[in-house]
Amino acid sequence: MTIPSIDASPAKKFFVDMLTRDIELADAILDLVDNCLDGAMRQTDHLDSKNNRYKGYYARLEMNKDHFIIEDNCGGISQHIAITQAFRLGNTNFGHDQNMPTIGVYGIGMKRAMFKMGAHSIVSTKTETEEYNVIIPPEWLVNDHDWNLELTPTKTGLVQSGTRIEITQIRDGVARLLDDQIVFQSNLMNIISHHFAIVINKGFTIYLNNNEIKPSLTSLMFDEKAFSNNKGITPYVYINEWEGVKIELTVGFYRDLTTDEEDETFLESRNSSEKAGWTIICNDRVVVYADKTRLTGWGEATVPGYHTQFIGIAGVVKFTSNDASKLPVTTTKRGIDGNNEMYLAVKDYMREGLKTFTNFTNKWKSFGNSNTVKSLSNTTLPASSGEIVDKIPKKQWKSNPKEFGGKFYRPSLPMPKLENKIKTIKYAVGVNDFNIVAEHLFDNTEVSASELGRKIFDNALIEAKENE
Ligand SMILES: Nc1ncnc2c1ncn2[C@@H]1O[C@H](COP(=O)(O)OP(=O)(O)OP(=O)(O)O)[C@@H](O)[C@H]1O
Ligand SMILES: [Mg+2]
Repeated sequence: MTIPSIDASPAKKFFVDMLTRDIELADAILDLVDNCLDGAMRQTDHLDSKNNRYKGYYARLEMNKDHFIIEDNCGGISQHIAITQAFRLGNTNFGHDQNMPTIGVYGIGMKRAMFKMGAHSIVSTKTETEEYNVIIPPEWLVNDHDWNLELTPTKTGLVQSGTRIEITQIRDGVARLLDDQIVFQSNLMNIISHHFAIVINKGFTIYLNNNEIKPSLTSLMFDEKAFSNNKGITPYVYINEWEGVKIELTVGFYRDLTTDEEDETFLESRNSSEKAGWTIICNDRVVVYADKTRLTGWGEATVPGYHTQFIGIAGVVKFTSNDASKLPVTTTKRGIDGNNEMYLAVKDYMREGLKTFTNFTNKWKSFGNSNTVKSLSNTTLPASSGEIVDKIPKKQWKSNPKEFGGKFYRPSLPMPKLENKIKTIKYAVGVNDFNIVAEHLFDNTEVSASELGRKIFDNALIEAKENE
């Protein structure tokens, strides 16, 4: 008896039409930029995490209704990698990459982005020793029997070692978006300025249709003197190394404390709240920006929910690993996996840090816009979160007694003194009565309510003191 063999081979249509449906166009494009950056990371000394690590490296995006091109000078794809891995739909060594904190995990990003955008793609690459093209034509996308591609050695026009991907025969819906400067392109620039802020700040340049994208970064207030005099503001910091993932958490104030008055004014303005909240960075990519929800601990356990009075509080958590599959990111790498065990453990410290600053804000709140608060914030210095960890003196660190380990720095923040405490008096009176008192005290009914109130209180205070 012959045993029937069942066809369980994959269908191209699945990769071309199904897999691409679940990803937003902007995210697919970000995947291509991620690849450029991973390339740049492999080219640079991984021990050099200093400010200018990516200087000179770029990714140039060009898009309109007819084509999408991304070109970089990030080293290119070696012929060996191209033949054995780069063009496979999926890979078998999840996340491992030569001891580098790259972000590529699944081996699908580049292909998915090409299939999502158009029916014809050319990948050209130049390394120090090789130069070639790989064409993915429309016929290949529908042929289930042919899973091979041709690598053609040729002049590519690339001047430096790098890669260019050119996608044409753009899909209908995609063409409209790629051509849309007002909404799609400007939105994409905005997403890139946040997502790649750290690397742009370290020298990487990204252009969209020849416009250079500027980074959008948050820095925290930091007063070095505060270690000795306890009068300034320093952030709460927690660091750990957990199963191959380096964790660095800082939370503090990124701007002056708000006063009651400002609170009201800011209430209407969304922009002013933009930087408040938690930013989460995985292998140099900002995967969550200025979050103010339960995802990052706001309104959970004993932490209050976000409110405009906390507009000055910002925190940054960085996860770095040479094995990208250990990062607590979602599969699209544009968000945090809220159920990840390591992330849940870190969240305890996010909440503790938040609590330090929400308590502090609440304590100062009843002291209004006192000069003490102003002078406090004026003496602080902004510092990017990475530098803060290095600046904390060794003896200020405490080890974490809990099983998760690591160590933290808890700031001792200046507390308000009672004599600076203020109270606001508010009450309503009839206009006729107001006019009678105004006439009596000022000979003028046009006087402002607060002026009149002040005068009445001052008179009462003099009288009370005389009778003491
Ligand atoms: N611009 C580039 N520069 C250098 N190498 C690249 C570039 N683009 C792609 N590659 C190579 O091609 C491989 C496949 O890229 P692809 O985005 O499909 O998967 P990945 O990055 O490994 O994983 P993920 O699906 O998580 O993005 C990469 O691992 C890398 O080796
Ligand atoms: Mg990738």
